[in-house]
Amino acid sequence: MRFSSKIQRCELSPVRKFYPYELAAVEKGLKVRHLNIGQPDIETPRVFFDAVSKFADTVLAYAPAPGETYFLEATRRYYESLGFPISCEDILATYGGSEALQIVMSCILEEGDEVLVPEPFYPNYTTFINVTGGKIRPIPTTAENGYRFATRQQIEPLINEHTRAILMTNPGNPTGVVLTQEEMRLMADIAKEHELFLISDEVYREIVYTGDKLSSMLAFADAADNVVVIDSVSKRFSATGARVGALISRNRALMDEAMKLCQGRLCTATLDQVGAAAMYDRLKPAYYTSVREEYRRRRDAVVAALSKIPGVEFRSPEGAFYLMVTLPVDDTEKLQYFLLQEFQDQGETVMVTPGDGFFSDPALGRNKVRIAYVTNPEDVTRAIELLGLGIQAYNARKA
Ligand SMILES: Cc1ncc(COP(=O)(O)O)c(C=O)c1O
Repeated sequence: MRFSSKIQRCELSPVRKFYPYELAAVEKGLKVRHLNIGQPDIETPRVFFDAVSKFADTVLAYAPAPGETYFLEATRRYYESLGFPISCEDILATYGGSEALQIVMSCILEEGDEVLVPEPFYPNYTTFINVTGGKIRPIPTTAENGYRFATRQQIEPLINEHTRAILMTNPGNPTGVVLTQEEMRLMADIAKEHELFLISDEVYREIVYTGDKLSSMLAFADAADNVVVIDSVSKRFSATGARVGALISRNRALMDEAMKLCQGRLCTATLDQVGAAAMYDRLKPAYYTSVREEYRRRRDAVVAALSKIPGVEFRSPEGAFYLMVTLPVDDTEKLQYFLLQEFQDQGETVMVTPGDGFFSDPALGRNKVRIAYVTNPEDVTRAIELLGLGIQAYNARKA
C-alpha cells in the first residue's frame, strides 16, 4: 500500500505539531502560556448557546447542502449592513473558512497549477493547495516594507501560464497587514486583466486598528467573476469550535462546481448554523467595536513587551491578531523544543510558532516566529516576558 504524492507534499501544521511536547511539559507540572495558536479567550456570545438550546426540532436532520436558509439569509444581511449586497445563491455554508479554502482549491487547480500567495502566509494554505497537485508561488514581502505586496512590480513578473489564482489574507495572518482601498482596487484589476481568481481570505475582517471602514473584495462589482471570499464565524465571534464558514462568490460557474463538493459532503452542522445565524442577526455594531478595542489593547501590550527584548525585530500589526517577529536565535524550532523541554521560570514556560512553516523556503523563517496575541494584556505581557527569558537561557546554554 502507498500514499499519494500529493499528500506527501503536505506537512503537519507548525501550529499543532508541538502539542505532544506541550503535554509532556504539563505532565511535569509546568504551566504553558500560549502565543502559538489563534484561539481567542474572548467569550463566545451567549446568543449562540441560547439559540442552540432553544432548538426545538425532534430530529437533528441534515441541513441543505448549500446551508440552512436562515444561516444564508443572516450572512447575506450581515454583508448588506456593511454595504456589500450579495444574494443567498452567492453563499455556500462550509466547515469553517478551512473547508471553503479546500473547496475552492479543488475546483480550480490541476497538477502543476500555481497560486500566488504573499509570503509569509498562513501555513495551512500549503496543505490545501498541495493536496490538489497545485503549488504556491510566493510573493515575497518584508517587515521593512511593511509586508506590502499589492504592486504591479511585485506581482506581475510572477504570473505565468500556470498561474490560476492569487490568494491573500486581508487583514493578514501572520503579518497583520491591512490593504488600503487603492491596493484592493489594484488587486481586482490585476486579477481581471490576467483572468485569475482572486481568493480573498477575510476571516479577520472586523479586527483592524487603522480606523478604516470595514472592507471586502466584494466591493468590486466589476471583478465579480474573479473574486472569491473566504469567511468564517471563528474569529469574528470567538467561536472557533462552531465550525461555520462560508465560500462567497458571484461567479455562478464556480459556485455550480463547488456545489458538487457541498452535496458530496452532505451538509455542515445544523446546530452550529443555528447558533451562527443568531450571532449574525442579534449582535449589534457595539459588539464588533468592543472586540476590536480589546484586541487593540492586546496588540499594544504585545508591542510594548516585545520592545523590551534586545535584538528582536517586528512590525506593529495593523489588523488581525498576529505578528511575525525575528528573534536573535539560530533556529526557532530548536528554541521551541528548548522552551518546552529545558526551560522554566517560576514554573512557567511559553509556546510560539516557529516561522519556517510560513515560508515556501523554510530557511527564510528559521529565525522568525509567529505570535498570536489572543489573551488578555497581562497574560500576553507575561508570555512575552517568558519568551525574552527563554531566549536568554537558550543563547547562554549554547555559548
Ligand atoms: C487566515 C486564516 N484563514 C482561514 C482560517 C480557518 O479558520 P476556520 O476554519 O476556523 O474558519 C484561519 C484560522 O486560523 C486563518 O488564520
